[in-house]
Amino acid sequence: MNAGKQELKVKRVSTRKRTRDSLNSNLTPAKKRGTGPEKGMLNGLMADENPTEYCSDNEDLFGDYDSILGDSSVMAKLDCVEQIARKQEPQQAVDSQPRHSDDRLTDSILDVFKDKSFEDLPAATPFDLSEDDVENMKMSELLQEDKTSTPLRIKKRTSEGRTKMGVVNTTEGQTSGVFSKARRSMTDHLKRAMLSNARAPSSVSCAKVLKEAVVTEEINVAMQAMETVSTVTTDLGPFFGLPTKVKELIYKLRGINDLYDWQKTCLNLDSIRERRNLIYSLPTSGGKTLVAEILILKELLCRKKDCLFILPYISLVQEKVRGLAGFGLELDFMVEEYAGSKGRFPPVKRRNNRSLYIATIEKGHSLVNSLIENGRLDNMGLVVVDELHMLGDGSRGAIIEMTLAKVLYMSNQTQIIGMSATLGNIKDIQTFLRAENYTNDFRPVQLSEYVKLKDTIYEVAPQEEDCLKFSRLLNFKYSSSMQRMDPDHIIALATEVIPAYSCLIFCPTQKNCENIAGMICKYLKEEFLVHKEKEKGVLLQELRSSGNGSMCPVLKKVIPYGLAYHHSGLTSGERRLVEEAYSSGVLCLLACTSTLAAGINLPARRVILRSPYVAADFIKRSQYKQMVGRAGRAGIDTVGESILIIQDKDRIMAKKLVSAPMETCYSNLTHNDGKGILSLILSIIGLNASTFITTTLEQVKDFMSGTLLCVQEDQLCVERNLWDMVQESLAFLKEKDLITISQCAQRETLEITKLGKATYKSSVDLTQCDVLYKDLSKGLESLMLNSYLHLIYLIMPYDMIAQCKPDWMAFFRQFTLLSASEQKMAAAIGVPESFVARKAAGQTVKKSVNMAAVRRLYLALVLFTLLKETNLWSVAERFQLSRGFIQTLLSSSSAFCSCVLHFTEEFEEFWPFKALLAELTRRLSYCVTAELVPLMEVAGVLEYRAKQLYNAGYKTLAHLANADPNVLSNTVENLNKRQANMMVASAKMLLNEKASALQEEVDELLMLPLDLPMASH
Ligand SMILES: Nc1ncnc2c1ncn2[C@@H]1O[C@H](COP(=O)(O)OP(=O)(O)OP(=O)(O)O)[C@@H](O)[C@H]1O
Ligand SMILES: [Mg+2]
Repeated sequence: MNAGKQELKVKRVSTRKRTRDSLNSNLTPAKKRGTGPEKGMLNGLMADENPTEYCSDNEDLFGDYDSILGDSSVMAKLDCVEQIARKQEPQQAVDSQPRHSDDRLTDSILDVFKDKSFEDLPAATPFDLSEDDVENMKMSELLQEDKTSTPLRIKKRTSEGRTKMGVVNTTEGQTSGVFSKARRSMTDHLKRAMLSNARAPSSVSCAKVLKEAVVTEEINVAMQAMETVSTVTTDLGPFFGLPTKVKELIYKLRGINDLYDWQKTCLNLDSIRERRNLIYSLPTSGGKTLVAEILILKELLCRKKDCLFILPYISLVQEKVRGLAGFGLELDFMVEEYAGSKGRFPPVKRRNNRSLYIATIEKGHSLVNSLIENGRLDNMGLVVVDELHMLGDGSRGAIIEMTLAKVLYMSNQTQIIGMSATLGNIKDIQTFLRAENYTNDFRPVQLSEYVKLKDTIYEVAPQEEDCLKFSRLLNFKYSSSMQRMDPDHIIALATEVIPAYSCLIFCPTQKNCENIAGMICKYLKEEFLVHKEKEKGVLLQELRSSGNGSMCPVLKKVIPYGLAYHHSGLTSGERRLVEEAYSSGVLCLLACTSTLAAGINLPARRVILRSPYVAADFIKRSQYKQMVGRAGRAGIDTVGESILIIQDKDRIMAKKLVSAPMETCYSNLTHNDGKGILSLILSIIGLNASTFITTTLEQVKDFMSGTLLCVQEDQLCVERNLWDMVQESLAFLKEKDLITISQCAQRETLEITKLGKATYKSSVDLTQCDVLYKDLSKGLESLMLNSYLHLIYLIMPYDMIAQCKPDWMAFFRQFTLLSASEQKMAAAIGVPESFVARKAAGQTVKKSVNMAAVRRLYLALVLFTLLKETNLWSVAERFQLSRGFIQTLLSSSSAFCSCVLHFTEEFEEFWPFKALLAELTRRLSYCVTAELVPLMEVAGVLEYRAKQLYNAGYKTLAHLANADPNVLSNTVENLNKRQANMMVASAKMLLNEKASALQEEVDELLMLPLDLPMASH
């Protein structure tokens, strides 16, 4: 069967007259390749030959915000400080000093048909097409080539496709008649299902259809203008080269009716008009995103190319997907989420539509890899990187660098846009990206920075010799006990603004966040309880139901006063609820860690930095700028202010902090013993290997000369130059059996091994790949499949195992609950019951036991219990672990499981793992009861919301996609209209995306091979 499929594909290639240029490899730099159709042909051939799946879910290893922290080891430091502190201090004490101390979407095609009717939909059924609708549909087909309403478009596209097939078929003889009949019934069936399922609840009016026709016309005009772009042309369309509808949508969906002057200037830059790479840098809240979004729309609509938007956190990706789904629906392009367990590799080919991929750093990299391997990178017209300064951020920075270096090397058609508020050395980055630069100081809301020392507040004034200018004395009346509790006068500072305005307090540790929130509420007056009392009651209720009846005692105490804390120890459900309540003004103060500064957009009137430390480290200038940058909400506040609290000893450092230029952003390919260089070189060789073309040493050298590391070689490669590093890396990869080096025609050629291929494709850490291989082989010898326990044991992330300290009593209790075969499996991996029993009894065990296996089993038990019970709180209690830890364990295991799945796919001997791990990944990704999964596939719908929706009658994706937002927000408790709109738009987009992917699959499946052997005359 496979062979047949393969043959069909190869033949289809030949029908498209693709030629294979054997001199070009995946590694051939764009500048050396033609830019015309030849390149597309070559790449197209590759696409069909070896479609592979990629996976890189590293960002999930640290959940959402904390991916960066965990990654750059600040998280580890933070945790370490937390642990020491937990042991040392009583709960209540408030620190007066900082302590220095592809998954392919699993829905089958049947799912579309399963949703037969919407009789149970709590709104008007979308099946009832009125006469008007039918008329409009007919009219719209007449009016336009490429309509904006997806169901109709799909219908039209299908019929077009069939006509084309028909032409081919009639020339090909009899077989085609049967074929086209089968195809017709199938496509008709699909068409009907999709038309019904994806249909928007609102009817299409004549005016709308006409308006859409105008839009299509405008796009066409703009496209023509783009094609004949010249420096004389200044206005390519009514709205920066885009149809007026885009402007209207920006107003309708964002409430923005005019662009800032700098945004207009930036969009009219020559570099933009001529599609050169660009870095633009403006202060926080400057409105950078909108410019990027307009450029993305231009690429999608006018140039008909796909775009990739890279954002640093899962929550930001989800927020963006929700925010842009409405644009996608109105302007007819796909918005695809690449975060967490979401995203397909390679992405679905859409012949008649464009896609905007919104991705985390890691998924963006995997996407680029898979597009290169499948020869589709030139379809990507634009790559936008938000928070570009993260290039300098540990191994995540290295991933951004790898992604951009590959795009630069491989495609001279793809434009790169980077934005940041805190880039110190734009010149280096400009050289790396071959980009132009635009800088402006604009900030819509003025930010005033202050420093507080004892009871004096100084204004930051860089022009003054001392950098600080006396501003005022803090006005407060503290009792002696209050002074003892709050020697830094945080309560006085906070109550100057709350509850009328909002306030963020950045704290150095997680525990400190909780303590600060608890302390402030102790001294707040009763009036605070009355403020938004009802809404706060609702929030508490929601928190309780998100925790299946459990609730954090600190939140329970502080929320009635309008306060909360926010750090990575919260569950994702709690985090979302706290964020939403703060955004809507129900909560007026959050005590948070620095993670909030780079995460979701939660600005405040006043930002207080409780100390200039993150964990035990003095903060960096860029961290400071990101934190204080949260002050001042555009459109709400007229001013924003930040107050940094310092002690005498920090004085000199603090002055530097507030006045120094931004830190330099360095390449991180050498970070962590050069892991970046190693995996970059491995993937370069691997990408070439996918086309059966070996890599030469010269190619690697050539590639490396296009990295940021090469730009900064003089500063970073002090002991040995870049070339020496490359040589060393190659030797290491060879020693690890990831590549082979051989001499061929007087050239050293490099080839990837099976292990190497599995490693780079699965994004498994290359220092752990051999251990993983051994563990999986051993596991396979006696795989216990009576339950998930053994499989869970095998996919436990190695990094998590190192962090784990078992609670022996809990371990023993859970151990005794295991079935006989589970206990047998535990004994087989070297953890007998007797050992756990002795440890639980506090006895010393003389026999040597592999502690890594013990810890691994303990964590596997935690996850196993969670998978069975789906109640994070009760599991946390049972194992004496924090709920934040369990949340991280779940997300990192689900990500690692997906990595291991891709790893095993490269080895024939691991065939049984394929089906097993695919199912386990799916289960771990959501970890909820099966009926909630389809709802949780919608961007940002978490368990508690999915439950609410399900109980309200919205049981499937189709229910949600066809819901009336008004009915939805009235039926589902505490879901406001805006949220309902975004949710419905996201669901619609997801449904369209799935339906269109199925359509593409059907088209491909039914395509007739033109070289089908015919009867000879
Ligand atoms: N032209 C405009 N008119 C009014 N509001 C705008 C305009 N452009 C952007 N905004 C709003 O300003 C706010 C901040 O914008 P944005 O998030 O793009 O800032 P940013 O420059 O990316 O800042 P940061 O560096 O903090 O991420 C958003 O709420 C956005 O909707
Ligand atoms: Mg931004």
